[in-house]
Amino acid sequence: SKQPIMVQGPMPIEAEKFAERLKDVEKEKSGTFVFYKGTVNGYPVIVAKTGKGMENTAAATAVAIEKYDPIAIINQGTSGGHDPDLHVFDIVLGKRTVNIGSLKTEQRGENEGIDATEWKPMDLMASEGSAGEDPDAENIRYYKGDKDLLQAANAVKDKYKKGKVVEGTIGSADVWNNEVDRIKWFHEKYGTSVEEMEGAAAAQIAKAYDVPFLGIRILSNNKVNGDEYNPDTAAANQEYVYEVVEKYISTL
Ligand code: 5AD
Repeated sequence: SKQPIMVQGPMPIEAEKFAERLKDVEKEKSGTFVFYKGTVNGYPVIVAKTGKGMENTAAATAVAIEKYDPIAIINQGTSGGHDPDLHVFDIVLGKRTVNIGSLKTEQRGENEGIDATEWKPMDLMASEGSAGEDPDAENIRYYKGDKDLLQAANAVKDKYKKGKVVEGTIGSADVWNNEVDRIKWFHEKYGTSVEEMEGAAAAQIAKAYDVPFLGIRILSNNKVNGDEYNPDTAAANQEYVYEVVEKYISTL
């Protein structure tokens, strides 16, 4: 039988709209993770409601790969803007996804304070040795978006009318940044377009199993240009991702 496409969403508002559009759905659970198994245009598609954050997402991704052997994984949902040119309802296709919570601090003794602007990127996948000592680990690791998934996403971007669709860099961590100077630091140092709390965890596990991966994130808020949070963006992103999935299926 055909390998399913997996579409992940962290929160109910980020997964259930897509799940409602599946045909012949069966719901399965593993721990707190919910998998809606169904079809789109006769092709098997699984929507995974992963829960928020890096740990839930990594575990849900590994469990899903072992259980369902997906042909590709799309991690999608809401995000906060790091780029002043991006507005609420704009969508970022993750040409790159990066963990922005993996950091190493400077050497400082007692009473020498804390300076987050000096923290360095840390790559836990650089070697099997200590990331604290290994200079090769002072690096930014980018996970590349799969080119066929990107091609499908670009092919249908004109169907999305609520904002623009651009390629960019998705940054992930279990952190919600509200400090504009810190957001700018990530934007300049890592080239981030948006931040969220899942993409890089899913990308890392997808790569470990060699499964094609793409992050697709809509802006629900943007601190840099003052755009206010709008939860309706979650549904809009799922509508767009449905178009992407249909397009991708048509190429298989
Ligand atoms: N910073 C971090 N996460 C965000 N999310 C939406 N906007 C932001 C933001 N500015 C997403 C995360 C997580 C939930 C809190 O919403 O991916 O699932």
